[in-house]
Amino acid sequence: MARIILTGDRPTGRLHLGHYVGSLRRRVELQNQGGFDKIFIMIADAQALTDNADNPEKVRQNIIQVALDYLSAGLDPSKVNIFIQSMVPQLTELTFYYMNLVTVQRLQRNPTVKQEIKLRGFSETDDGSDNKAGTPVGFFCYPISQAADITAFKATTVPVGEDQEPMLEQCREIVRKFNSVYGETLVEPEILLPDNAACMRLPGTDGKAKMSKSLGNCIYLSDSAEEVAAKVRGMFTDPGHLQVSDPGKVEGNAVFTYLDAFCLPEHFERFSSCFVGKKSSFEFHTLDEVKAQYRAGGLGDVMLKNFLTAILNELLEPMRQRRAELEKDLPAVWEILRKGTEAAYAEAQSTLDDVRRAMRIDYFNDSTLIGK
Ligand code: TRP
Repeated sequence: MARIILTGDRPTGRLHLGHYVGSLRRRVELQNQGGFDKIFIMIADAQALTDNADNPEKVRQNIIQVALDYLSAGLDPSKVNIFIQSMVPQLTELTFYYMNLVTVQRLQRNPTVKQEIKLRGFSETDDGSDNKAGTPVGFFCYPISQAADITAFKATTVPVGEDQEPMLEQCREIVRKFNSVYGETLVEPEILLPDNAACMRLPGTDGKAKMSKSLGNCIYLSDSAEEVAAKVRGMFTDPGHLQVSDPGKVEGNAVFTYLDAFCLPEHFERFSSCFVGKKSSFEFHTLDEVKAQYRAGGLGDVMLKNFLTAILNELLEPMRQRRAELEKDLPAVWEILRKGTEAAYAEAQSTLDDVRRAMRIDYFNDSTLIGK
C-alpha cells in the first residue's frame, strides 16, 4: 500500500516553536528521508473559519504567512504538495456524507472539542443575545471535516501534536464505519507523535501549558534575533529560584522544557561561552549536567537563558534568511500553492469518486440504474 502523509495547520497566525517541534520539524525530516509516496500539507483555512467566521480577513492574510513559514522551515515544493483547504471543495462534500456516520453525542465526548469550546468561551446556552453565545455548528463538527481532510488523500500517516489524538481516533472510527456500511473504500490513518515529551506540548514562554497565539506566549519562527532574546529573557523559570546560589527546580521550568526540546550534544561545545561568567564558570557536556548543577544551586537563570537564546537563534537564523528571500517574490509562493492545490484537488476528486461509487450515489455512471 502507498505510504501517504497528510497534515496541516490553521492559518490564524504565523507559526511558532510549538508548531515546529510538534510537527513541522518532523515533516521536513520525513520529506527528506523519502520513505513516502506522497506528502500533502494543508493550510486549513476552512477549519480556521469555523471559529473566525466574523474575521475572514485574518484567515486570508495568514495563508501566505503560513506558506512562508513552511517553506522557510525547509518544506520543499518539489517533494510535498502544499495546498489551501477551501480550494479543494471535495473535502466539504466528503464531510457532509461523513456527518451521517457520527453522532452528536460522540462529538460531544471528543476531549479536544470539549476543551476548545471552553477555551473559546462558547457558552452552553444560546439565548440569541450575542453572537459569541453558543458553539458554531461548523466548529462543533470540525473533527468530521478533519476526517475528510485525511481520508481524501488516503493518508496512512498523520504527523501532528498530542492535542490532535482525539481527532485521529474519531477519523479512524469514521473510516471503520464507512467501510463496514459501504464496503472497503477508505484507509485508516496512523498518528505520528513527536518522540520527545517536551516536543509533545511545548509550554508558552509564561510557563502555561501550551504555546498559543491567543495567550500571547509564543516565539514565532519569524521573530528577529532580538525578539527571541527578549522573549527568552522574560521567560518563566522557577519562582523559588531567587538567588543564584539557591537550589532550582527543573520540573515545570519552561526554560528546561525548551532545552529538552531543542538542545543537541554539539551545542555544549559551540556555546560553552554562555556558561563563563565573572563570578562563576561551568563546563557542561550534557543537559543532565546542567540540570544537576541547577538543582544543586549556583547556576543562574541568566546563563541558562543565554544558552537557550543561542540555540534558538542558531536554529531560526537560516529560516529568517530564507523567509526574507521568499518575501521578495510572493507571486512565486502563490504559484507553489496553486500547483500544490491542483495536485490535491485531483487526488481528492479520485477519492470522492470512490466514495460516491461505494455509496451508490454516482447515479449517472450507474448502468444498473440507467440501463446502459
Ligand atoms: N486541527 C489542526 C490544527 O489545529 C489542523 C488540521 C486540519 C489538520 N485538518 C487536519 C491536521 C488534518 C492534521 C490532519 O493544527
